[in-house]
Amino acid sequence: MNFYIETVGCQMNTLDSELAAAELINAGWTQVESRKDAQLAIFNTCSVREHAEEKIYSALGRLKHWKTQKPGSLIVVMGCMAQKDKELIFRRAPCVDVVVGPGQIDQLVALVERAAATNNPQIAVSLDRFQRRDDPKAMKESFRQYDPIRMAQTRPRVFQAMTRIMFGCNKFCSYCVVPSVRGPEQSRAPKDILREIRTLADQGAKEIVLLGQTVNSYRYVEGEKVTRLVDLLVEIDKIPEVKRVRFVSAYPTDMTDDLLQAVRDLRTSTPYLHVPAQHGANSMLQRMRRHYTVEQYKDLVERIYATIPGASITSDFIVGFSGETEEEFQQTVDLVRFARFKNSYIFKYSERPGNEASRKFPDDIPEEVKKRRNNELLAVQNQVSYQGNQQFLGKTVEILVEGPSKREMKSVAQEETLYEEGQVADQTVDTMGALAHVPNITTSLEEMTASAARVSGASTQAQTVQMTGRTPCDRIVVFNGSRDMAGSFRRIKISHVGPMFLAGDLTEE
Ligand code: 5AD
Ligand code: SF4
Repeated sequence: MNFYIETVGCQMNTLDSELAAAELINAGWTQVESRKDAQLAIFNTCSVREHAEEKIYSALGRLKHWKTQKPGSLIVVMGCMAQKDKELIFRRAPCVDVVVGPGQIDQLVALVERAAATNNPQIAVSLDRFQRRDDPKAMKESFRQYDPIRMAQTRPRVFQAMTRIMFGCNKFCSYCVVPSVRGPEQSRAPKDILREIRTLADQGAKEIVLLGQTVNSYRYVEGEKVTRLVDLLVEIDKIPEVKRVRFVSAYPTDMTDDLLQAVRDLRTSTPYLHVPAQHGANSMLQRMRRHYTVEQYKDLVERIYATIPGASITSDFIVGFSGETEEEFQQTVDLVRFARFKNSYIFKYSERPGNEASRKFPDDIPEEVKKRRNNELLAVQNQVSYQGNQQFLGKTVEILVEGPSKREMKSVAQEETLYEEGQVADQTVDTMGALAHVPNITTSLEEMTASAARVSGASTQAQTVQMTGRTPCDRIVVFNGSRDMAGSFRRIKISHVGPMFLAGDLTEE
């Protein structure tokens, strides 16, 4: 029997899809690349913004036809929307057979089998974070999912792998839905994490991405012994097969000096930090319940640049949050210029029911204003990114080659997606980028790869294809190479740059 998984949202979801696939393969299922060939269609969903949820519900509506054409086929909804909407999903989308929360992936196979055998909808989700104050231990436990099965074949690239080091979030930013759907912050035991990374390294992983909603708040206490992120980085550094390590997303106030020094000094650590600022005005940061001021954030930026040579920093921003004035918005623009971010993921505020902001602050910025601010900030960020990339002209960088560029891929196969053509841009999953929902990157990527190809004179030879890789500071590099280079480290002399890209040629230098 075949299954097909479609994933939207952040890297947590990309990883969860991989773990779900491993569970199913372990039980004898086969993963396929198209829903047409599948008997089981799985949607891994996102609740961070309302728009994403609406798109999933309308896609589920369209799936009714798929199901009637295929007797015995099943539909699963997993991810944050499963946890947030629970039984409501069966009511809004009656074709759904199984709803499974992010903390219950290990029950997926059993739920699917039971749904097939009984013809009844099945659901497994965590306890409600706010209803179960009487039994916090049971509530916490219900959000855990330990020691997942890892299989190389479930990853798009065997040499890049993600590992979750912590679950949940305790920061309670007022606009966010994550603390309720992903549960309380819980760090995994270092020995479990290291065992998992050992497995990944044995499977061929050279680059490891450590995942957590606030990954640098990682803290595991065992008797007298406290393990923090910096201690984990030191241990991972001892695994010879691992060449690069990065971690996303970092919370600004937990970015300690010893962590920055470790990023500078360790063999495997890369000078790339994703530290979402969210806003550039103190009044807004306060309403967003971020626990820092813009001055503290700027101080952090200076500490990063002073400590780590060649560091790149990326951020997330929300525009059009409740009450945001033009002046406050301009402070965000100023922060982008000040911090010289490599890139930023910019989101229009979307009110989410149940959180603090939805109770206290009206969603009062008109959509057109949100849109304008989004575009304005993006334009400034593009300028800043372009300036930042100029420094690489004429320099040689070392990259880990990822594979053929998107342009090459597109000419080979047309991806089947949940969304209609053209709507996908703001939900593209950047598998090795930030813990974010990458906006507008697809279009710019297309343009840039096209212009890079012109500059470096793309060959018509079948074996020469446009390839991409990444620098240690997470910049995308486009060059002409061959497919067999994927997974290797190469040196590229940069001859052309754009806001999203560096482009150049292979060199022995
Ligand atoms: N509206 C818009 N953007 C949001 N994010 C989180 N919650 C919301 C919301 N309600 C953004 C934040 C976060 C990123 C993953 O998504 O910038 O860092
Ligand atoms: Fe949401 Fe991140 Fe804030 Fe946690 S730290 S509440 S995941 S925005």
